[in-house]
Amino acid sequence: MRVSAGPLQTPEIAYDIAAATAHHDCPDIPFQSRENYLKILDNPPPAVTFERHLGYLDGEPVGLLVLEFPQLDNLDVVWAELLVLPGHRRQGVGRALLDVAAERAAAHNRKHIQASTVDRHPDGRAFAEAAGAKPGLAEIRSRLDVTALDPTLLAGLRAEAEKHAAGYTLRSWLGVPPDDLIDGVAYLEGRLNADAPSGDLTLEPEKMDAARIRDGELARQKRGRLSYQTGALLGDRLAAWTWINVDLGHPSHAWQSTTIVDPGHRGHRLGLLVKLENLDFVHGHRPALEAIDTFNAAENTYMLKVNRAMGFRAVDDWIEWQKDL
Ligand SMILES: CC(C)(COP(=O)(O)OP(=O)(O)OC[C@H]1O[C@@H](n2cnc3c(N)ncnc32)[C@H](O)[C@@H]1OP(=O)(O)O)[C@@H](O)C(=O)NCCC(=O)NCCS
Repeated sequence: MRVSAGPLQTPEIAYDIAAATAHHDCPDIPFQSRENYLKILDNPPPAVTFERHLGYLDGEPVGLLVLEFPQLDNLDVVWAELLVLPGHRRQGVGRALLDVAAERAAAHNRKHIQASTVDRHPDGRAFAEAAGAKPGLAEIRSRLDVTALDPTLLAGLRAEAEKHAAGYTLRSWLGVPPDDLIDGVAYLEGRLNADAPSGDLTLEPEKMDAARIRDGELARQKRGRLSYQTGALLGDRLAAWTWINVDLGHPSHAWQSTTIVDPGHRGHRLGLLVKLENLDFVHGHRPALEAIDTFNAAENTYMLKVNRAMGFRAVDDWIEWQKDL
């Protein structure tokens, strides 16, 4: 078998490889719709550039490498997605694509390649270890079964949280944050890499501002995604914020993204409160919703405790790897 690698010519092939691999490695997560996946080519998130390469076995495309180069921060890092079709593994395609990743990283002056694996199958971890990568951060994917929500439990949690959050008000919105809140959202999102555990990964806070938040949201909408967001305010200042995002092609599924409380406002159960409010908000708009998935660092005991109280349950373990070049 002859192994080779080259630039991606036909985006459709990338989708086929990514979808087949995801179906094998994480069958319970509905994979992005084709439309959603392909639209990222013309509507990428702001402040990053992408490169895509294919891996071939005897001329047949069986592997995909997506490289994401941050442009405003984390300039030493490249984020990689490296996938080989299940039926064509252990024949050197992964290694060939890793060589491409290392070459392209060097061309962009990057010193670290970061990528994630799920522990459900041994392949990802075994490959990362063989490649000389180091585990940087252990993560847990948890799922909330929205069809089995317990309204009494949630109402009890909410009443308890509200006792600690006197004076704060809640606001929810769809998509781009309102003008009076967007700077607050940028400030909180920008804190995330500093505030959430990042283990041994080389990771610096992202340089966020209102324009980057707005452009990110508008690009997401053009890809067929939408976000549901809730903030807690003290006066006119945003003290906590959370968001859930959905692929409009998948009415039954959603992703819980960032939840963050400004350090000066911690201890008021605002993390729980904004999440409960946002759950109601998204559920009200998307009655067919069945499951919400979320990732947390395994050492993020506070967030895991909040999620567990709401009904999220751990599904699988993930590792964020880092290969230093
Ligand atoms: C990880 C992945 C890309 C590897 O692709 P691949 O084409 O099978 O990789 P290679 O054939 O080049 O394997 C290179 C080495 O990794 C190790 N390896 C890979 N899979 C392994 C497994 N299941 N068990 C033991 N070792 C394994 C071996 O040392 C192998 O060399 P060898 O076959 O000469 O012993 C593929 O399994 C995959 O797509 N997994 C799911 C996605 C994923 O986890 N990607 C992130 C990787 S950081």
